Amino acid sequence: MEQYIIKGGNPLVGDVEICGAKNAALGILAASLMTDETVVIENLPDVSDIKVLIQAMESIGVIVEHLDRHTVKINSSMINSTTVDSVYIKKIRASYYMLGALLGKYGRAEVALPGGCNIGSRPIDQHTKGFKALGADVDISHGHITTAKTGKLNGNHIYLDVVTVGATINIMMAAALAEGKTTIENAAKEPHVVDVANFLNSMGANVKGAGTDVIRIKGVEKLHGTTYSIIPDQIEAGTYMFAAAITMGDVMIKNIIPKHLESISAKLIEMGCQIEEFDESLRVVASKRLKHTQVKTLPYPGFPTDMQPQVVATLSVCDGTSIVTESIFENRFKYVDELTKMGTRIKVEGNSAIIEGVDRLTSASLSAPDLRAGAALVLAALAADGISTIDDIVYIERGYEDFPEKLKNLGAMIEIVSSDQEINKFKLKVG
Ligand code: EPZ
Repeated sequence: MEQYIIKGGNPLVGDVEICGAKNAALGILAASLMTDETVVIENLPDVSDIKVLIQAMESIGVIVEHLDRHTVKINSSMINSTTVDSVYIKKIRASYYMLGALLGKYGRAEVALPGGCNIGSRPIDQHTKGFKALGADVDISHGHITTAKTGKLNGNHIYLDVVTVGATINIMMAAALAEGKTTIENAAKEPHVVDVANFLNSMGANVKGAGTDVIRIKGVEKLHGTTYSIIPDQIEAGTYMFAAAITMGDVMIKNIIPKHLESISAKLIEMGCQIEEFDESLRVVASKRLKHTQVKTLPYPGFPTDMQPQVVATLSVCDGTSIVTESIFENRFKYVDELTKMGTRIKVEGNSAIIEGVDRLTSASLSAPDLRAGAALVLAALAADGISTIDDIVYIERGYEDFPEKLKNLGAMIEIVSSDQEINKFKLKVG
């Protein structure tokens, strides 16, 4: 089994290019099947969650041609089934986007219930509430969710009980081809929600207000082909920003939208980093020992839950006591036990972690419990004394393209190894 082996202690220095946003790409890929015309999607990240969704789309007859590593050409005129039961689809959360897209286009969809990272209970009641409001029946049985329109899909006024990215995107897709107007109140405002709305509009949809908490959709009869480039990944960028901070480094994060990173930049400044902002890049410099702060995860524009493990890992080697409160997912501190193996002093009480900064971290054998927690363990290992290993890197590969290579370019000592021989070779190399 492949694992990362990391010798910590090197400050990261240099430039890193950020990929297209995974969570925008998942919504956009699903939405692309809503037209029979050809769609070209650029800046697609080459990560496993995207591959899984593409396989699921191919399993129902979508034709996907890879023009290069980050560009696909999609034609969905030959879809032969609205039942998505690929063995892969259960592995990813975004499988549920096939529901909204297929329901909007064909009036029916059946999809195996979504999986995804185990970060707490992940209900889909707001998705089903939205579909029902548009005039569809929803049935959940035998591990599948089926949604089908009874008559026409009709626009409606939908008030979401919680701010949810997934339900906002799903309802937006189904409503794009419904008859009449739909209003989604208390909508999620994440950059990837806006990106999916922009993509739908580039196919001829009429979606207004994405990025605010009220989204208005006027249904259109059909959607047409387009060429669309996905926005940069806010969370990949944020992860490298914290990698610079935890290793006391100096990293230029390129190909980003600095506005999307404001809550992350603000925290790093509070902790003592210097941030220089340019049009499409950001420089993060940590030149002195960083200090404690308080963080609460919130929907955008608040501090993202997908950055919570990375900030906890970083605060574990800062001066003073920090508190990080998780308000989106209730089970997102499982990785703290792994960090404890490295000498951190973190106590989890309810949905808060109380972090007493230590002078240094020590190496350990670790396992990635989920995507972002896995990334946080990599950051901790990069800052620790000695050689650490991280298992279960498949979780990390779900969302980070070329993670070890990009870190190596910044001066990190990291390799993917799968045998004792390779581990020994790494140890000899790093001394
Ligand atoms: C998306 O998940 C992302 N996944 C997650 O990223 C991210 O952590 C999350 O949004 C929050 O930003 C994708 O985009 C594929 P939600 P999603 O619906 O859509 C509750 C990563 O690491 N809720 O915004 O599943 C829910 O329990 C992943 O890249 C309901 O109560 O999240 C949670 O508390 C992990 N009922 C809150 O809303 C519902 O019907 C936000 O969830 C739906 C959600």
